Amino acid sequence: MKSAEIRQRFIDYFVRNGHTHVPSSSLVPADDPTLLFTNAGMNQFKATFLGQEPRPYKRATTVQKCVRAGGKHNDLEQVGETARHHTFFEMLGNFSFGDYFKREAIRFGYEFFTEDLGFEPDRIWATVHHTDDEAYELWQEVAGLPEDRVLRFGDKDNFWQMADTGPCGPCSEIHYDQRPKKAKKELSAEEFEALTEAGEILELWNLVFMQFDRDEEGTLNPLPKPSIDTGAGLERIAAALQGVDSNFHTDLFMPLIGRAEEIVARKYEAEDESGVSFRVLADHARAAAFLIADGVFPTNEGRGYVLRRILRRAGRHAWLLGRREPTLYEICDTVIAEMGDVYRELVDRRDHILRTTQAEEERFMATIDEGMQRFDEVAPEGGSGTISGPDAFRLYDTFGFPLDLTELMARERGYDVDTEGFERELEQQRERSRKARDVTVTPEAVGADWSVEDLEVHKKDIEQKWVGYDRLTVDTDVLASVRQNGRIVLALEENPFYAEAGGQVSDRGHVEGDGWSMEVEEVARLEDRVYIAGPIEGEFTPGPVRAVVDGARRRTQRNHTATHLLHAALRQVLGEHVTQAGSLVAPDRLRFDFTHTGPLSDVELEEIERLVNEEIWADKGVRKGFMPYRDAIDRGAMALFGEKYGDRVRVVEVPGFSLELCGGCHVETTGEIGLFKIVSETGSAAGVRRIEAVTSSAAYERVKAQERTLKQLSETLKTSPDNLVKRAETLMAEGRALKDQLQEALSGAARDQVAELVGVAEEVNGAKVVSGTIETADSESLRAFGDRLRDRLGSGVGVVVARMGDRDALLAVVTDDLIGRGVRADSVVREVAKLAGGKGGGRPHMAQASTGDPGKTQEALARVTEIVRPMLEKAKS
Ligand code: ALA
Repeated sequence: MKSAEIRQRFIDYFVRNGHTHVPSSSLVPADDPTLLFTNAGMNQFKATFLGQEPRPYKRATTVQKCVRAGGKHNDLEQVGETARHHTFFEMLGNFSFGDYFKREAIRFGYEFFTEDLGFEPDRIWATVHHTDDEAYELWQEVAGLPEDRVLRFGDKDNFWQMADTGPCGPCSEIHYDQRPKKAKKELSAEEFEALTEAGEILELWNLVFMQFDRDEEGTLNPLPKPSIDTGAGLERIAAALQGVDSNFHTDLFMPLIGRAEEIVARKYEAEDESGVSFRVLADHARAAAFLIADGVFPTNEGRGYVLRRILRRAGRHAWLLGRREPTLYEICDTVIAEMGDVYRELVDRRDHILRTTQAEEERFMATIDEGMQRFDEVAPEGGSGTISGPDAFRLYDTFGFPLDLTELMARERGYDVDTEGFERELEQQRERSRKARDVTVTPEAVGADWSVEDLEVHKKDIEQKWVGYDRLTVDTDVLASVRQNGRIVLALEENPFYAEAGGQVSDRGHVEGDGWSMEVEEVARLEDRVYIAGPIEGEFTPGPVRAVVDGARRRTQRNHTATHLLHAALRQVLGEHVTQAGSLVAPDRLRFDFTHTGPLSDVELEEIERLVNEEIWADKGVRKGFMPYRDAIDRGAMALFGEKYGDRVRVVEVPGFSLELCGGCHVETTGEIGLFKIVSETGSAAGVRRIEAVTSSAAYERVKAQERTLKQLSETLKTSPDNLVKRAETLMAEGRALKDQLQEALSGAARDQVAELVGVAEEVNGAKVVSGTIETADSESLRAFGDRLRDRLGSGVGVVVARMGDRDALLAVVTDDLIGRGVRADSVVREVAKLAGGKGGGRPHMAQASTGDPGKTQEALARVTEIVRPMLEKAKS
């Protein structure tokens, strides 16, 4: 039975039995920071199991996209080595939210398997949790399994939980016995396990009896209502029904392996070591295509990092198969062709998937090439010994060589690798990055050499209140202070000063007290408070103060709202894969980094700018408010991956256009932004683009400055701004015509010069050596001269000093026959230039150099024969 049919029959069966068919959720669980990727069908129903999110149905069925790589269920390094491990797979599932429980779950599972798929009843085994007598009985009663085909196991096998916290419960697994009919039927738990290990008995379906919610302390709290969560791997079922020994040999993977065979021009041999590489390519192409379609982008952290590792692992196996060019993206294309009708997102994002994969592969190839050079240094061919831990680590860290690749190449050359040393280096690096992550805002960040212990507390046990969203002038009190060398650090009771966060830079302003005042030069958050610091005038006394935020600088908020508009416009124009990779919101400009491959076209940039401006001109009210995190996410708010959000989050919304979680300062209405102008679009890091833009008066100033330039240009070219382009075109054409005329005049002269030079050539070992000085218009005519000289030389070397206006250049040429014997124009020119005080280089047949002082240049020219002679002599032998 084809896998497509299994998928369909599954859905049909459960819909027939009162279940609602719910589409697969994204591989990126947007609303669950405990999960890296969607790893089971139940993920999207987690809150429903917990009783937090009611749904209009009590039974559901799904075919869920899952990735298990990174996080709790991590199979990455095994994939390809075994018959059943995958990074990406499809999980068939049926769910009951407080509706049916064990009895029906067992009945449905058994009935679907035996009746709809035709699995043989007497090959079915079940396992249950060792404490679960009820399930043990039900398997006999409902499915009629003999007692000895129901086995009991402990938590490790028969208790399922999605992550360290969350819904969980005891489970029961359905297994399929693929051994010959007469094989032994009574098995001990150990024998059974050995057979599943060997793949002779196949675990196909996991029925979880959801009963608990595990909290952070590990305590199991009962769920409001016992529920059912099941999961069956489509790949395994297909393998069992198609009678093949490995998931990779089903119709889900064979077309991908076939495509890989074509690309690498090699046959797939399952048992060969190369078989692993083929399977890795097939598996990883699926993961890459699906992850990228769901908006994951290869980066150096979080989900993006897992994707990058998957792509690199594929790259390394393509490399092992002899490929030196991007490979996986072509297999991704087969994934799209094979699965696009079930998963439309693959087709919709095809270009993006292929481009992203290819670009990452290209980068990986480049590092491998570089790494190979390094590898040659640490393990030269023909040598032997041990590659040290630090060397192996450097290959890994700088060049992306995984340890196993280093080991493999080392073995091939007869070297060992100090793997323990490598692990030590790796651990040290982990330690370093852990430390780097732990750094929080320090007192130094507020510009003073003090610590929290130094604070003098003026008002005790009072929480600071942030009031800066809508008040720039505040009358309040000082909670604590430190004085130091003419500076003071304060914490205010009601604080209007914004401390840098989310890209928005800190506020400035001043504070006035009784007989003293301070400039606010720095603002920083330290633990739960914001501190301000700066020089003080007068004698500080605690008490009532007036704090004033610099309103002009708070124009940052125009740029902040504009940043949200830009983010939304980018997603509209370029696609959902665009996510924020960095942001700076300053008073005078904004900078936004986002994930995307390749530069934006002018048309795209114009469209983006237009969309943002239309939102500005619509003068929409910007809504800001707090809501539960879940509600915000359900409404589609953009949250940054890796950021920690509390239960209640602040949401900033430009109705109908943009919705983001954000704690920053924003305008009241979009009209305040006035105008939005993109200043530049560049690449920032691999796969990350950067847009810089200005708004309001800065945008106006920019337009004004360009207008001034146009005006100046018109005056210089003596025309009106409207006619500028035409005028410039005419001038360019005139310039070209003049240059052509000059060229013609000069080349006549040049022909004569060539003849003259060749006429007085010296003979060295049968080759002509020519040197002299010529006049020429520009580098282009100089090169033309060089070509003619080469032609006329027949066999020889020529070096000339060319006068081009007020500068001199050196040119060397070598004829092809001598190049073939190792004489190179670039070496010649370099030697001559050295004497002339200049530098240069070029190609073997022609090369150029600068010159230093003119006297030396002539001297150098006089020594050309002397320089070239040894080269020619060497060439002869
Ligand atoms: N959620 C269960 C599993 O993943 C069904 O095995």
